[in-house]
Amino acid sequence: MEVVIAADAHDIGRLAADRFAAVLTRRPAAVLGFATGSSPIAVYQSLAERVAAGELSFAATRGFALDEYVGIPAGDARSYAWFIRNRIEIPLGMPAGAVQVPDGTAADLERAALRFDRAIASAGGIDLQLLGVGVNGHIGFNEPGSSLGSRTRIKTLADQTRVDNARFFHSPADVPTRCLTQGLGTILEARAIVLVASGAAKAAAIAAVVEGPVTSMWPGSVLQHHPRATVIVDEAAASRLQLADYYRSAAS
Ligand code: F6R
Repeated sequence: MEVVIAADAHDIGRLAADRFAAVLTRRPAAVLGFATGSSPIAVYQSLAERVAAGELSFAATRGFALDEYVGIPAGDARSYAWFIRNRIEIPLGMPAGAVQVPDGTAADLERAALRFDRAIASAGGIDLQLLGVGVNGHIGFNEPGSSLGSRTRIKTLADQTRVDNARFFHSPADVPTRCLTQGLGTILEARAIVLVASGAAKAAAIAAVVEGPVTSMWPGSVLQHHPRATVIVDEAAASRLQLADYYRSAAS
């Protein structure tokens, strides 16, 4: 696993955006995997600036979201479909629907999950997957205890996740209890992965994911099995890494 310690969230955004730019240079019609939440916002801002400056185009790309709440319709500002449309497709100049989101309002959620995995496969797989990480080590919404080989499926959110995401709702009780999420096995199939994290609240998760044993108790640790996984963190999120000096010297 490659670990890059960046100065701040803005720097994380720039470095992760460089990875997207490199993929798009090689493959303008790349298939991209997008995370939602707070961590990747600086990445999307950096990408949007490059699009506005005419340096980068997402016009030919397609994409896939990682996850969606069950029961929140796409037009609702709390849905991840809304985030994808307003924070990614519009600022990056992608047509509506270019990024597919699991259908958390489907009558048959299991079929919707299966359909989503098949759509990724028929697009030829994901060239670059962007991830955040939960304080409990989840990637996507693969909560602790998730099968390391799991596929896109219905998952119950951990209490910790519902508390963390309550900032987007009136109260933790209003946060949906279930979601559809790409599985850990699905995520591992991406050809390259970039995980971004900032702030001290993520330090324990980053230490476990990067340097701990591979365990379903810290689902992101499965990325240690991926041949092209990069973790880009700020100093606070890196503060519990034992090999921080090594990562710094390897990057210089
Ligand atoms: C989002 C996702 C989650 C978040 C994680 C961190 O699509 O799948 O894994 O990346 O919960 O969220 P933030 O970035 O808001 O701290």
